[in-house]
Amino acid sequence: MSTTAPRELRLEDVDLADHDNFVAAVPHEMFALLRREDPVYFQHEPDGPGFWCITRYDDISAVHRDWETFSSELGGTSLQDLEPEHIEARKSMIDMDPPRHNQLRALVNKGFTPRAVKAYEEKIRELIRGILDDALPLGELDFVEKVASELPMRVFAEMLGAPQEDRRYIVELGDKLLGNTDPEFADPEELERHRHLPFSSPVALEMFEYGRKLADERRRHPQDDIITKLVQATVDGEPLTQREFDVYFILLATAGNETTRHTISSGLLALIEFPEQLERLRREPDLYATAAEEMLRWATPVHHFRRTATKDVQFGGKLIRRGDKVTTWFTSGNRDEEYFVGGDQFDVSRAPNPHMTFGPGGVHFCLGAHLARLEVRIVFEELVPRLRSVELAGRSDRLRSNFFNGIKRLPVRVTL
Ligand code: HEM
Repeated sequence: MSTTAPRELRLEDVDLADHDNFVAAVPHEMFALLRREDPVYFQHEPDGPGFWCITRYDDISAVHRDWETFSSELGGTSLQDLEPEHIEARKSMIDMDPPRHNQLRALVNKGFTPRAVKAYEEKIRELIRGILDDALPLGELDFVEKVASELPMRVFAEMLGAPQEDRRYIVELGDKLLGNTDPEFADPEELERHRHLPFSSPVALEMFEYGRKLADERRRHPQDDIITKLVQATVDGEPLTQREFDVYFILLATAGNETTRHTISSGLLALIEFPEQLERLRREPDLYATAAEEMLRWATPVHHFRRTATKDVQFGGKLIRRGDKVTTWFTSGNRDEEYFVGGDQFDVSRAPNPHMTFGPGGVHFCLGAHLARLEVRIVFEELVPRLRSVELAGRSDRLRSNFFNGIKRLPVRVTL
């Protein structure tokens, strides 16, 4: 019987445009090859102009720090090729450059500082205890549905000032928006017809409507929450326009939920796959903070963001032309051998851990980073001591997306 060794991966096998390559697992071997052999790689697209893929840590940082050359505003931050009027109609601050970006970010920034977020610590602990009390006695459960998706939404409903009973509704809308390349959540023809909306999704209209209802309510009864801040805000003496409010609301309601959820799911999956790390965490509870950072690195829920070159520029030995799409792959930066020793290993004690899961720095660095860190740490501080054992009870199911590293379902069996 003859056995043929699997052929070594070559550059011509790399395809980061194909969402299918992200379904079974993150194609880490493609990223390792690119970092080694072609760190500023041009990816052809079947139905687009193609895009540059920046895969080394230092290069990703350089792109994000130079917003004048690599703009978020010129073409937006998603890979889609949109007409200027569509970009304009749907852009929130994440798709803007300074100075407008900074003015809009300043409206809510204070609510997300380490100190502001710390005030939620006890609330978060109380919420997660309640969630675990309900979920774990089931014995066998979908961890995504029962735990990971619950906490971020409950915390955010609290900060946003949305009624807790609406949280499932907001989660479902968010799933449909962010899963827009997965047939389980979206229909490609619908997306084509709604290019003027965030995520090209008609679901954005429902989300707008929900945000407007909350805003009306807060205009009548102001509270100490983010919606009230947005309805009372002025920029250059003017209140936000309806469109500015709508897209701001969608950004806030989506940016923190799925990302934090996927980190929590992926964190548990890592503890199941690396049982010695789970044991270590049990033995050394001082490690929860470094474990949370490692889960964030390991999960990297946002694979990449896009920028657009504002001029011709030589970068990493390649000529990037004005108007070219440039993608920065945090997934790859987070395993860059120059920064992470044994990056393919999950290590709850990893320190230092300069991951770029929230972006590599620069004006768009994740607004919710402190909040997400806190949530992830507290979930595992509360979860691990309760578990006598945990194992997979079926196959975990991944999102079809080269943008979002999502786990849709994670069936587990636990004993307490
Ligand atoms: C594990 C959870 C999270 C991950 C992985 C994540 C990831 C990211 C990334 C990669 C960026 C873009 C950074 C850049 O371009 O340099 C970003 C921006 C942003 N994130 Fe997060 N995020 C998370 C949680 C949150 C939470 C809880 C919120 C709360 C609202 C949030 C709100 C935002 C906002 C508003 C922006 C845009 C910031 C700007 O344009 O200035 N994120 N996030």
